Amino acid sequence: PEEWIEACRTDEIEQEDVIRFDYSERSFAIYRTDRNDYYATDGFCTHGKFHLSEGLVMGNIIECPKHNGRFDVITGQAKRAPVCIDLKTYPVKVEAGKVFIRL
Ligand code: FES
Repeated sequence: PEEWIEACRTDEIEQEDVIRFDYSERSFAIYRTDRNDYYATDGFCTHGKFHLSEGLVMGNIIECPKHNGRFDVITGQAKRAPVCIDLKTYPVKVEAGKVFIRL
């Protein structure tokens, strides 16, 4: 069965920014792009144990602050070395000013 989890309010994330969301011993990154679309991925970089919520969002790209690896937040695809393993992504829906992710 689908499980939609409320992650945050839409206005808790600045435009072109990311926040951390921890749930049930897992950690996620929730993004808001410059076009006000919302996306969710695993929170930790696939290269090292560094949280992507500390990173920089540029369009639909997240840059890891540790070694500047990059991912596409929509597809999770690894975009720039040293990251080479894609990031897991999660479906997102926005309802009544809240952001939900499906686990
Ligand atoms: Fe993210 Fe190395 S930990 S690029």
